Amino acid sequence: MSNAEDHPSTRRDFLYYATGGVGVVATGAAVWPLVNQMNPSADVQAASTLRVDVGDLSPGTQLTVLFLGKPIFIRRRTEEEITVARAVDLSDLPDTESRNVNAATGADASDSNRTLAPFEGEDTGEWLVMWGVCTHLGCVPLGEAGNFDGWFCPCHGSHYDTAGRIRQGPAPENLHVPNAAFIDASTILLG
Ligand code: FES
Repeated sequence: MSNAEDHPSTRRDFLYYATGGVGVVATGAAVWPLVNQMNPSADVQAASTLRVDVGDLSPGTQLTVLFLGKPIFIRRRTEEEITVARAVDLSDLPDTESRNVNAATGADASDSNRTLAPFEGEDTGEWLVMWGVCTHLGCVPLGEAGNFDGWFCPCHGSHYDTAGRIRQGPAPENLHVPNAAFIDASTILLG
């Protein structure tokens, strides 16, 4: 797998993003512990797919990658984050849909319907992959923040939980989950 530095266009895109060139992400980009670190091992396979090496991510850390012009959060959750997310009663959720394009049609917003398994049938809940785009008006939420210790959008005060589900504030939907799959034990393919 080649390195992102081998791809000038990827590098340029990231710099554009990091300097706040896109208005909707500027607020988040300024304070987000941007990229843990901006996926130095990402490999652009084609315009619509991206391979991301997550082998170095430890529990409790997050990688942010730019995909199709928008940030994607890849978080390896802690046991506590998983436990808290799985204990939530679905009736407490403003949005009860999974918002996960990989899930079955009509799947509910249970934690297991929003997380990504490294192997088929292995529902550890450890991996959460989401578009880092607030479902209100598109700002980039901040991680490990807010009233539910998940993500917080500072633009108008939306609070997401540790599964990226909207819990408080004006955002109408859970953070969306993109097309994603593990293609080996340490590589996620987006798109
Ligand atoms: Fe996130 Fe408005 S854009 S709360």
